[in-house]
Amino acid sequence: MTLTVNDLRVHYRTLRGEVRALDGVGFDLADGEILGLAGESGCGKTTLGKSLIRLDGRMRHAGGTVTLDGDELPLSDDRAMNAYRFHKISLVPQYSMSALNPTRRIGRMIRELLASRGVSVDTGELHRRLALVGLDPDVLERYPIELSGGMKQRAVMVISTLLDPSVLIADEVTSALDVSNQQAVVGALRGLRDKGLVTSMIFVTHDLGLTSHIADSIMVMYAGKLAEKAPTKVLTTEPRHPYTKMLIGSLPQVGARYKDKPLSGIEGSPPSLLNPPAGCRFRDRCPLADSRCAEEPPVVEVAPRHSVACWKAA
Ligand SMILES: Nc1ncnc2c1ncn2[C@@H]1O[C@H](COP(=O)(O)OP(=O)(O)OP(=O)(O)O)[C@@H](O)[C@H]1O
Ligand code: SF4
Ligand SMILES: [Mg+2]
Repeated sequence: MTLTVNDLRVHYRTLRGEVRALDGVGFDLADGEILGLAGESGCGKTTLGKSLIRLDGRMRHAGGTVTLDGDELPLSDDRAMNAYRFHKISLVPQYSMSALNPTRRIGRMIRELLASRGVSVDTGELHRRLALVGLDPDVLERYPIELSGGMKQRAVMVISTLLDPSVLIADEVTSALDVSNQQAVVGALRGLRDKGLVTSMIFVTHDLGLTSHIADSIMVMYAGKLAEKAPTKVLTTEPRHPYTKMLIGSLPQVGARYKDKPLSGIEGSPPSLLNPPAGCRFRDRCPLADSRCAEEPPVVEVAPRHSVACWKAA
């Protein structure tokens, strides 16, 4: 087992109190697995990715453990995390392709980054990795502005995986791309896993349709908690959690006319994570809610590798 996350709680300190962005999340990531992490904006996807790499000054590890290849990660100890960060677990941050330094050529940026980590990668190996994600070696001589969005995103992926991490977290790496660039990026991610340069991956997106193309399993989060996790085929064809069902039901179908099949959204919005209500957090929006839902549903394994947090899912 590559990664085991157990009851992880990470809060943001704010002037109004603590935002409970991750509030008791647990899951496993197996060797070779690509896990899609989905859920609407603000449910805690980026917070989960960041927690496994670096807690920024406003984040607090409020509880729970993360074990990677048998070692418990020292999440609250920024210095001790250096032994893991980028070496064993790496992140392609949300919006990172737009954050590349515009005044540096890609090659120089990579050399400086490696030097700052005290490691080196020979040119032949770098070219091999660029080829693997479909990039020509001449991108090393180019400035970020000279690359398309998809090329920049693939360059960031190469940079993030130079040290062959056990786990790569790719946070919304396809969100700002057109369909062909999305395919190139998704193909590149699979290639990195298939060639063993990355053992396992967490592919974060709010796009459930896209994640079902790349992920072996999918985890849906809602308001800082796990709603459902299952193998991709199971989650997309036999979802048990009402929220997952509504997410899948709201995906647009190509060719369907609005007058024949109007787009259905999920009415309402998630609760504030500053003082989240007791009980099931989906209660206000759930068509199946009843008095029992005033109590928090436990995460139950309803079938092998299929976990759901809903009283009505069993
Ligand atoms: N620096 C911060 N200070 C306070 N609250 C924050 C901070 N960053 C995030 N949050 C809150 O934490 C929760 C989770 O945010 P997060 O960015 O992890 O969501 P997300 O699922 O990645 O959303 P998106 O799909 O929009 O990227 C949200 O309620 C958000 O408002
Ligand atoms: S526990 Fe209740 S409110 Fe929550 S998703 Fe299930 S039925 Fe709906
Ligand atoms: Mg995010």
